[in-house]
Amino acid sequence: MTESPRSGTEWWRTAVIYQIYPRSFADTSGDGIGDLRGVTEHLDDLAALGVDALWLSPFQTSPQKDAGYDVADYCDVDPIFGTLADFDEMLAGAHARGIRIIVDLVPNHSSDQHAWFQQALAAAPGSRERARYMFRDGRGDDGSVPPNNWESVFGGPAWSRITEADGTAGQWYLHLFDASQPDFDWSNPEVQEMFRGVLRFWLDRGVDGFRVDVAHGLVKADGLPDYTPPEDAASMGGEEADVPYWGQPGVHEIWRDWRRVMEEYDGDRALCAEAWMPGPDITALWVRSDEMHQAFNFPYLETAWRAADLREVITDSLRAFGGVGAPATWVLSNHDVVRHASRLALTAENPQGAGIGPKSKGKPDPVVGLRRARAATTLMFALPGSAYVYQGEELGLPEVIDLPDEARQDPTWFRTGGERYGRDGCRVPIPWVSDAPAYGFSPEGASWLPQPAEFAGFARDVQEDDPDSTLWLYRTLLAERRERALGAGELEWLDGFGDDVVAFRNGGLTVVANTGTDAVTLPSGVVVAQSGPLAGDTLPADTAVWLADA
Ligand code: NOJ
Repeated sequence: MTESPRSGTEWWRTAVIYQIYPRSFADTSGDGIGDLRGVTEHLDDLAALGVDALWLSPFQTSPQKDAGYDVADYCDVDPIFGTLADFDEMLAGAHARGIRIIVDLVPNHSSDQHAWFQQALAAAPGSRERARYMFRDGRGDDGSVPPNNWESVFGGPAWSRITEADGTAGQWYLHLFDASQPDFDWSNPEVQEMFRGVLRFWLDRGVDGFRVDVAHGLVKADGLPDYTPPEDAASMGGEEADVPYWGQPGVHEIWRDWRRVMEEYDGDRALCAEAWMPGPDITALWVRSDEMHQAFNFPYLETAWRAADLREVITDSLRAFGGVGAPATWVLSNHDVVRHASRLALTAENPQGAGIGPKSKGKPDPVVGLRRARAATTLMFALPGSAYVYQGEELGLPEVIDLPDEARQDPTWFRTGGERYGRDGCRVPIPWVSDAPAYGFSPEGASWLPQPAEFAGFARDVQEDDPDSTLWLYRTLLAERRERALGAGELEWLDGFGDDVVAFRNGGLTVVANTGTDAVTLPSGVVVAQSGPLAGDTLPADTAVWLADA
């Protein structure tokens, strides 16, 4: 076990946390899939970027049916990512640089290759082995109708029928996601105890916290009543209230229990909830003082590039999270949504999880998208609280739209028969070196998803030499944010800039973001950071600036 960088500081209240999607970050083995050694090799780059912590998407043993969110062994590293020794080395290297490590935990479901699920398949209905998952008899005379009408987040039914050991058609099991991801039954004390052990396993190794997958989904309503989501609903939830599998009150007991485990350990270990719920007030229930420490602010991520909407969600977030004593968090991209350099310029509705591809309507203008993304990020890093960065956004990477059908791997694509493209477009391995094989991602040029030629222009080495690059912008923003302690600051709204402008004070800075089409006149001040060129003393459309008092 290694020492955490700083103890007792409640670091998670203000931290900038960088999400590593390990399979697409950096590959040292040459198989075209990133690995933990790739992370270790780039720790200096991450330190130079100025982030406080890394969250790693799952690297535990998994058949990779949902890119690692289908875990077969919670306490080991999948060989494609390396070994536990590689993990320890990465953790020690990060801590030596003052960077904390957050591990992704997936408690709603396991892989169907998990020993418990294999035992459940071999055991009889009603057995202790079956009781760890959600097995039910089917409806109809012969049990051939699923127990209810729920649909999987990835499309198709949320139930699959098994063949019993004697060869007869048997019970059904629930999987809110892919059929290879059976849901645990969280009312079962054995499941609860297993996960306490998983938490302790990683805490004992020295991790600083957990990002908790589907933290709104573990408890299902009694009786499993039928439910039909509205058409075009976001796949992970977040818009509808009263869904029998999202946000059931019982989940909060689980987080209180986990909080107690976290408090057995020193060093301010943190829990962060992935809970897609409607609005900041409901999301804040996950971060009451005896539950988790942070929850992703998906209402913020889902807000359009419109000043009035942004002012409202920021106000509501600060009030709601502050009201329970938790930090507000801010996030614009992750591995489940269209990258914000593309999303902010979409001209058609695009529910979360649908993705964009060659035949999508309302495809984004890349120039507008990048301009808005840079402005949105400049605005975000000035906000008090904690912020998340998804690997590649510091390069301004767009969503990869033109992936060939045969390259796609997201279960969403398969389970909807290609109707929804899914999330592969934001998961393409990132470019490090413009003229190297796989743009420096993998030594021999392999890449589990094909990288587009345009990635050469986004490569990190090209941006290193360009003070106007997105990489320089991120570094400047993060350095100034830290220097001026903006994460611990107080936001004070400024009026008088017009409807299309978001303007506020924090940490002695005036922050102005223009979401409209006309330039707006800026107050006097010294430019500390700007997302794009200014025009004299005016702020052009889709641009944001930080001004220090003159
Ligand atoms: C949320 C994760 O972020 C997503 O990538 C995954 O597919 C689902 N949970 C299921 O684990």
